[in-house]
Amino acid sequence: MIEARSAPPQMMTDEIFKLLRDFIYETSGIFFADDKKSQLENRLLLRLKAHNLNEFDKYYYLLKYDPDSGGELRALFDSVTTNETSFFRNPTQIQALQEQVLPETLAKKQMAGESRLRLWSAGCSTGDEPYTLAIVVTEVLKESIPSWEVKIVASDISEKALRSAGAAQYNEYTLRLVPQTIKEQYFTPNGDGLYTVSDDIRSLVEPGYLNFADARRVELMRGFDIIFCRNVLIYFDDDLRRRFVSQLYDNLNPGGYLFIGHAESLHNISSAFKLVHFPGALAYKKD
Ligand SMILES: C[S@@+](CC[C@H](N)C(=O)[O-])C[C@H]1O[C@@H](n2cnc3c(N)ncnc32)[C@H](O)[C@@H]1O
Repeated sequence: MIEARSAPPQMMTDEIFKLLRDFIYETSGIFFADDKKSQLENRLLLRLKAHNLNEFDKYYYLLKYDPDSGGELRALFDSVTTNETSFFRNPTQIQALQEQVLPETLAKKQMAGESRLRLWSAGCSTGDEPYTLAIVVTEVLKESIPSWEVKIVASDISEKALRSAGAAQYNEYTLRLVPQTIKEQYFTPNGDGLYTVSDDIRSLVEPGYLNFADARRVELMRGFDIIFCRNVLIYFDDDLRRRFVSQLYDNLNPGGYLFIGHAESLHNISSAFKLVHFPGALAYKKD
């Protein structure tokens, strides 16, 4: 007997590509340039399958006009985001944080009689970055940590990535840059090749959903001493980069630092920050 099979999805036409790409841009700020059509097509195939659709235009109409498409929007964001990350990514930036930026920030706070330290991992993906920040803060503060009120906000648009951040379990590959002593101190092997982040470190990190295209919500993020927003701006166009980076400036306390990706730059995006050079790393300071 011949089994009934659903027809394979039709190719994405240029017209539907533009409609979908504009929709994604309007809702998330993530921009697919003309040469990224096949990438978008591949990423959306599973969404079509999930809805038993074989035409991209039907999926577009579902997103645009179905009143129940809110949940699908979140699934769309999971599909179109790139969540690549790792612990201690770009070690020279982490070293600059540990040896220069944190000691300077803490000394300034002590002088002012403040004990509140707030960091933000903006675009935290699966949690590797905010847990790295929490480990570094713990290493710098050492036994004085109980006298500080430390919070590391970890936000992302991908709920799937945020669920992983909440589970806080990682494989050897994503821990490959973690020094052995740090690994032994802050991770527990599960015996199945995964390592769980220690409760002390987890307690410092608050993962939560935030879409950077939502300017009103981003505006509410105030009072940060240090922001890591690495490898996120590359997915936006210059308009959104300018608007979002100017908001990050407002989200920082005076004297606060912004770290962006190693290969990213604020050239033509913002002149508000002072560029600070560290060995092998750059940071942007709100002077
Ligand atoms: C390549 S990862 C970078 C993760 C981490 N910052 C690092 O450098 O290792 C980029 C992250 O940005 C998130 N992202 C992309 N667009 C976003 C948006 N509009 N709002 C919030 N997060 C977004 C993605 O979901 C993804 O997890």
